[in-house]
Amino acid sequence: MIFSKIIGTGHYLPSRMVSNEELSRTLDTSDEWISSRTGIRQRHIAAADESSVDLAQRAAERALAAAGLQGSDLDLIIVATSTPEHIFPSDASQLQQRLGCRPIPAFDMQAACSGFIYGLVTADNFIRAGSCQRVLLVGCDVFSHILNWQDRNTAVLFGDGAGAVVLGASPTPGILSSVIYSDGQYCNLLQVPLNVGTAENQRSQRQPYVEMSGSEVFRRAVSALADLVTELLAKAELRPEQLDFLVPHQANARIITATAKHLNLPLEKVIMTVAEHANTSAASVPLALDVGIRRGQIQPGHRLLLEAFGAGFTWGGCVVQY
Ligand code: COA
Repeated sequence: MIFSKIIGTGHYLPSRMVSNEELSRTLDTSDEWISSRTGIRQRHIAAADESSVDLAQRAAERALAAAGLQGSDLDLIIVATSTPEHIFPSDASQLQQRLGCRPIPAFDMQAACSGFIYGLVTADNFIRAGSCQRVLLVGCDVFSHILNWQDRNTAVLFGDGAGAVVLGASPTPGILSSVIYSDGQYCNLLQVPLNVGTAENQRSQRQPYVEMSGSEVFRRAVSALADLVTELLAKAELRPEQLDFLVPHQANARIITATAKHLNLPLEKVIMTVAEHANTSAASVPLALDVGIRRGQIQPGHRLLLEAFGAGFTWGGCVVQY
């Protein structure tokens, strides 16, 4: 049997940091409101000429270095993003060129904040099917380009960043269980309408922005993630206390705490980066994973539960043996 294992990780954050206090100079908000409701204290914001491919490249180079590989060693590239540099070519094809890869399959995957988990399940399936040995998976997003900076309901919640993993074929399992879902009945609760597929876009000239029913998203996320983690552990035949770390999507500290509480996990077993990075969408989980590894919290052999929830709604997770 062939399995897939994470053999290298990396992340990249744009150099500019924006604090809650800085945001409160132009928005009717406060550090107190943002940090108490979300746990966010600051976020990184890309430079005007910095795209999701630029962020992806830096994270990917670090993940490849950690795996001891070069771009030419890769068999497949998947980039999870909702903010590609172009409608086409994909971020993945642009990244392939920048990393000096051979002709190999490369494609973007769009499942909003769950994109990295969708990518992980896809990469795992490619490797277990025997069609690839080494896969680069990047989650990257530049939400600062799709935020309405006058809307305090959304502008305070997001940041820019990229996280990457390299997966390699392995005789022992690295992904112990995985589950992904979508429920399209909730499409309009969290969206960035673009209408590029309709003639309306030609007429409206409307800037696409994040629109969200925050409290409804919050409620559904807490309930879906509770069911998800229970299902993931059952599939992996593990009890919560056998997990070393929860590596959750970093949207809101209160959602993360609710999931940890459902699992009866102490907060020392939760990787939390939401205070420093805010919600970086598809980058959020691999970014937190790499931070946990580079801080020395996550060690080889540890059992991790990765999960995410986002627009669609989409949600999913994997139990990983690192
Ligand atoms: N600063 C100050 N006040 C704000 C604000 C801000 N940045 N944003 C909203 N408010 C106000 C609202 O206007 C509302 O005022 P009102 O009561 O006078 O109408 C009040 O704060 C409460 O808003 P509410 O939406 O009920 O707050 P909340 O406790 O639900 O927290 C979120 C709001 C957005 C933080 C929370 O709902 C959330 O995190 N939702 C999930 C978001 C998310 O994770 N999205 C991405 C998923 S991948």
